[in-house]
Amino acid sequence: MNNRLSDLPRNLLIWYRANAREMPWRITTQERELGHRPDPYRVWLSEIMLQQTTVKHAIPYFQKFMESWPTIGDLALATDDEIMSAWAGLGYYARARNLLKTARAIDLLGYFPEQPSELRKFPGIGEYTSKAIASIAFEKPYVAVDTNVERVFSRILALNQEWKEAKRIIRETSAQLIPTDLPSEFSQALMDLGANICTPKQPKCSLCPIRIFCSAQKNDDMESYPRKPIKALRPKRYGAVFVLIDGDHVFLERRDQSGLLGGMLGFPCTEWSTNMNSHPSKQMYTLAKANWQYLSDVQHVFTHFSLTLAVYTGKLLGVRPSGIWVSFENVSGLPTLFKKVLNVVSPCLR
Ligand code: ADE
Repeated sequence: MNNRLSDLPRNLLIWYRANAREMPWRITTQERELGHRPDPYRVWLSEIMLQQTTVKHAIPYFQKFMESWPTIGDLALATDDEIMSAWAGLGYYARARNLLKTARAIDLLGYFPEQPSELRKFPGIGEYTSKAIASIAFEKPYVAVDTNVERVFSRILALNQEWKEAKRIIRETSAQLIPTDLPSEFSQALMDLGANICTPKQPKCSLCPIRIFCSAQKNDDMESYPRKPIKALRPKRYGAVFVLIDGDHVFLERRDQSGLLGGMLGFPCTEWSTNMNSHPSKQMYTLAKANWQYLSDVQHVFTHFSLTLAVYTGKLLGVRPSGIWVSFENVSGLPTLFKKVLNVVSPCLR
């Protein structure tokens, strides 16, 4: 290659100065040059939100958290229910529980740890997130390698190796290129390039500041990379969900802490099973006597399976079972799956 890879960071950082995406947890290059530093609490919170959520979806949640809990000390004093409710809709609820545990632990510690090895000791902070926080908040010389960054380097280097070996090369090469004075901007520039320019389909190579280093682009073969193994198909699961109605109130339960959507509010469900023919009637009548009727199905995709729930509603005929009764208008804090269920049922509630 004529162009030395060691020149890549310079091109990338110049581009980042002009093109960085604005995000409420970021500081600009200009602010950094004036001596400002990002708040590690904001960086950490954003990284936890962004683990499984797009930037666009995460921003309103991030802002809501900042209004409710402006500092990590404020968050440490929140209750589980408050956090779960504010997190509802972001998915992967173990993240919210870990968030609270970590806020309390760091608050107790009295300072925000700066090194990945220390950060990884806290719940919810793995290798990627520890490096993202260390580089973005504390200018430590690490790169946070996510799927975007993997894609960028697998194209730059046209990596045809077996994927595990390719990932090793990506880690090694990206680490060697970190500019010692600007790890934060290097990490974030790679994230932005992967998100906006070096996209999985139809990458915008004509706008790419590092295309002169890119072997895949030279061969006009960008979309062949990364050469990852093909993912197995998501298995399917099936179940039923029961929305019991009394006047303008619906019946909710807090889900078991240990399972999926653990600790979240939801409607009572059957087990989510791989058998699509299981019949829900017994459980429905155990819950309460009501004029149960099938409405329609809702679909929801989790990481490891996709779920089809048959939605049943029933107007209560007997005595109210004890539990959480909430007026339909005031239902909040439901995870997306149960919001979908509520949307299906809402015409029956008006
Ligand atoms: N994805 C994960 N972390 C991010 C960040 N800090 N900025 C943009 N996208 C990200």
